[in-house]
Amino acid sequence: MPLENKLGLTDEAALARAEEKISKTKALALYDTGLLDTFPVGTFEGLADIHRYLFEDIYSFAGQMRTVNIAKGNFRFAPVMYLAAALESIDRMPQSTFDEIIEKYVEMNVAHPFREGNGRSTRIWLDCILKKELHQVIDWSRVDKSDYLLAMERSPVKDVEIKALLRAALTDRITDRLVYMKGIDASYHYEGYHVFRTEDL
Ligand SMILES: Nc1ncnc2c1ncn2[C@@H]1O[C@H](COP(=O)(O)OP(=O)(O)OP(=O)(O)O)[C@@H](O)[C@H]1O
Ligand SMILES: [Mg+2]
Repeated sequence: MPLENKLGLTDEAALARAEEKISKTKALALYDTGLLDTFPVGTFEGLADIHRYLFEDIYSFAGQMRTVNIAKGNFRFAPVMYLAAALESIDRMPQSTFDEIIEKYVEMNVAHPFREGNGRSTRIWLDCILKKELHQVIDWSRVDKSDYLLAMERSPVKDVEIKALLRAALTDRITDRLVYMKGIDASYHYEGYHVFRTEDL
């Protein structure tokens, strides 16, 4: 059974399809309305704003901290018991250099604050920090899926791979709508969603 959802869908594939279509449409609206530029940058509050906006039509927990422990592969994300404290210390992490920003991203990934939708919302959050602080963003269309996932799996132990991979994909095309849309598609592709193209929604 898939996660309980507001759409009343009980079929895994049907939910994945609906979730992709609805939340990608929201991701584009987030950009086009300029709402994304109004959210706090580099804090859990800002990430929760993004998550809520993307998933509010699908999940009742949109924008809210998870209440269950989760793991992926052999890795256990932050225990619920320590999650609030972890998020407070991540909020205070510096974000003035590329290395600091990626270190903050790695910690937010370890926190994994939501029940679902962490990867997709946190990559948008990361780009907001890079945009504000360095006037650059990641061109995710140039980041290979398996390279990315391997580097993220490795990142809690050693962050050199993810830093090198993302540094190589930095672009200063920060107001290019196409870079954003292709980025959303790549980000969703990492998580197994690739039925719709943001451009076509
Ligand atoms: N084994 C791992 N160790 C650490 N981080 C990982 C691991 N596997 C994946 N990640 C990171 O977590 C992100 C999302 O993983 P996961 O699928 O568990 O979260 P999610 O909440 O379902 O996110 P989404 O719904 O956006 O896919 C990945 O994009 C990657 O950045
Ligand atoms: Mg997921």
